[in-house]
This record gives sequence, C-alpha cells and structure tokens, in this order.
Amino acid sequence: MTSLLLNECLFDKTPQQFPFPGFAGFNPASLEMSSTIVIDDERPDEVVAREALLDQAFGQARFEKTSERLREGRYPAIGLSLVAREVTKDGETLVGTVRLWHVLAGLVPCLLLGPLAVSGEHRSLGLGGKLMREAIRRAKDLGHAAILLVGDAPYYAKFGFSPNLTTRLDLPGPVDRARFLGLELSDAALAQAEGLVLPTGALLFPFANDLRFGTSLPPALAPSDWQQAA
Ligand SMILES: CC(C)(COP(=O)(O)OP(=O)(O)OC[C@H]1O[C@@H](n2cnc3c(N)ncnc32)[C@H](O)[C@@H]1OP(=O)(O)O)[C@@H](O)C(=O)NCCC(=O)NCCS
Repeated sequence: MTSLLLNECLFDKTPQQFPFPGFAGFNPASLEMSSTIVIDDERPDEVVAREALLDQAFGQARFEKTSERLREGRYPAIGLSLVAREVTKDGETLVGTVRLWHVLAGLVPCLLLGPLAVSGEHRSLGLGGKLMREAIRRAKDLGHAAILLVGDAPYYAKFGFSPNLTTRLDLPGPVDRARFLGLELSDAALAQAEGLVLPTGALLFPFANDLRFGTSLPPALAPSDWQQAA
C-alpha cells in the first residue's frame, strides 16, 4: 500500500526549534536539518519500536485496560495497522501508531480502534489527527461499518466519535461510559448494535484451544477465549 507523505508535516527545523545564533551551542548546520513524517502501514520490523512507544505513552497499565481484552491474542485487522514514521537523512524513527481490530458489537461486525499514541516529542503537530483520519478513511474504503473505541471524548469528538452510539453496548470489563465511543461509517450501522462486544480477529495461536481442551473449535470465535477475556 502506498504511504501518505504529509507535506504539511514536512517541517524544516527552524531557529525556534534549535539554539539561536549567538547562543552557546548554536550550530548553523542544524538549520539545514529536515525531516519528513510519513503515515504508512506498520512493518513487522517496527513491532519493538511500537511497544516502546506504547510503554512511553501508557506505561504497563495499558495491559490492564478493558479494551486490551478485545485485542490480546489476536491479529489486528488487515490493512489497518498504521504508523507515523519520521524520516531523516540518518534513518527512520517510529513516532506514532494506531491499530484497528475486528469485533462483534452485539450482532454487528465492526472495528475497535486503539491504542493511538504519538511520541512525546512529536505531539501537537497534527500527527494523531493524521493517523486517525487515515485510519478512518481506510476502514471506510475497506467496507467496515463502524468503529468503537475507549478514549477521551473531547479528543475523539473531532473525528465524529460519540458516546451516544454505544449506550446499548457493553465491554468485557469496567468502562467509563463517557469514554466508550462509536463512529458509524455507513448509515445507522450501530442502530442494531446491542449487547456484549466480542473479539473476532484471527487468533495469534489458532491451535491453543486444541492443546488446552482437546477440541477443534473454530479458532476465531472459540468460547473458551471469550470466557478467558471476560
Ligand atoms: C492523544 C495523542 C495521540 C494526540 O496526538 P497528537 O499528535 O498530539 O494529536 P494532534 O496534534 O492531532 O492534536 C493535538 C491536540 O489534541 C489535544 N489533545 C491531546 N490529547 C488530548 C486528550 N486526551 N483529550 C483532549 N484533547 C487532547 C491537544 O491538546 C492538542 O490540542 P491543540 O491542537 O488545541 O493544541 C497523544 O497526545 C498521545 O499519544 N497521548 C498519550 C497516549 C494517549 O493518551 N492516547 C489516547 C488518547 S485517549
């Protein structure tokens, strides 16, 4: 898939971002430095950098989140793991991440978004917004009906997310309902969404059930996984 070059994020390091002339440490060469931010598909070799970025953004508490019960042991949705990558002449650095995951909202197949994170040094440059808009655009192009997430409503409202679309849904764990948000990508997609949200993504270890229980349950919706997640 082609990457999206963010022209507006192609920022030359200005004197405001580096020591000014006359100050100790001023280096005229720094004014020549430039970097480009690219939104692209996450690559397999970026997994370690992504984990480090998530640790920086959320700490180890991220594994305790209710949303994690819908992600653990699953692959993210195909084509919907995005990164923001800073590219300089010296190399590349992962500076942002977002993933989407298959879930069933009652009887409605849709996506769960998260985690979204941008490195501390790159916040308020618009990267979170770029990642969100690109993820939503791709999800819509791929034919997905709706997106759910748990996050700060004031941030996600600007992308159209609302708590009003999830009032009849439950998650497999505690959630602040004001932070449980939905976005419809097709008309009234969540109108019939009622009940528990279940994980339906492909399992990372599809034969785990067979090893534990000696059964041949269909891997993606095995009840044993659900009971464990709840
Ligand atoms: C949330 C996050 C991804 C935003 O990334 P970003 O690249 O800074 O986002 P943008 O540049 O598109 O938007 C920045 C704006 O969103 C606001 N914003 C950031 N986090 C916010 C939050 N949790 N609630 C409300 N507003 C928020 C900023 O104040 C800023 O406002 P401004 O433009 O008026 O200055 C980033 O702050 C982050 O990684 N935070 C830690 C991880 C996290 O909390 N992720 C999930 C959020 S629920």
